[in-house]
Amino acid sequence: MKSLRITLKIASSLDGRIALADGTSQWITSSASRARGHQMRAENDAIMVGIGTVLADDPLLTARTVPLPARQPVRIVADSKARLPTASRLAGSTELGRVVAVTAGQGSETLAAAGIDVWRCGNGVRMDAGEFVRRAEAEGLRSLLIEGGSTLAATFIRAGLVDEIAWFRAPILIGGEGLPALGALGLSDLKSAARWRPVAAERIGDDVLDTYVRSEQ
Ligand SMILES: NC(=O)c1ccc[n+]([C@@H]2O[C@H](COP(=O)([O-])OP(=O)(O)OC[C@H]3O[C@@H](n4cnc5c(N)ncnc54)[C@H](OP(=O)(O)O)[C@@H]3O)[C@@H](O)[C@H]2O)c1
Repeated sequence: MKSLRITLKIASSLDGRIALADGTSQWITSSASRARGHQMRAENDAIMVGIGTVLADDPLLTARTVPLPARQPVRIVADSKARLPTASRLAGSTELGRVVAVTAGQGSETLAAAGIDVWRCGNGVRMDAGEFVRRAEAEGLRSLLIEGGSTLAATFIRAGLVDEIAWFRAPILIGGEGLPALGALGLSDLKSAARWRPVAAERIGDDVLDTYVRSEQ
């Protein structure tokens, strides 16, 4: 039984795309939705993205609320091969709060020297999500906001580790060549698709925020 509460946040177009084919994703949703996203960051102990998102967007991942939170959430990147560039905004902002790179087992002297915590979670190929959750719990984290991208989100959904989905939708259409909100889930029939129960629906300007929790099956 896990104690870490995991929320998956998605900011998509109406047709469920989180980026254009070239990876551009800023800004699909409105500034009001993004402000809510910062609020969500402030309410969680930690924020996580995949290394694909860091390489595409170079995010800072801090909670920029007014006023600022008393403490910044721990910022975590799933980074099996320790590819996090030391010149990235994430790696260069450890003075703002703890930054963690989760590898598939290897350490990284370069990242450690840059003040980044390296958690080794896996068998050498890819970060193991279950092992990562156990490590996060052992580190005292109680809540985690996963912000994508597509590949990392699919891993946590497939592993049944997501408790809640916060899905922001903007009234634009990106089309089939855009990046889907979720990578492959490997379903062979609909019966094995996880069911989600809607618990809230809110208009934020022209955007919509739908919140779902996992249905017991
Ligand atoms: N609109 C939104 O809500 C939103 C949010 C975030 C990102 N995005 C967009 O999404 C795109 C990036 O998505 P992406 O799918 O290419 O990359 P991603 O999900 O951010 O990162 C994927 C990478 O994470 C690493 N990883 C480590 N452990 C993993 C695991 N257990 N499962 C899955 N991945 C793991 C893998 O690289 P290693 O094997 O090297 O570790 C993998 O290639 C960008 O265009 C970004 O702008 C949009």
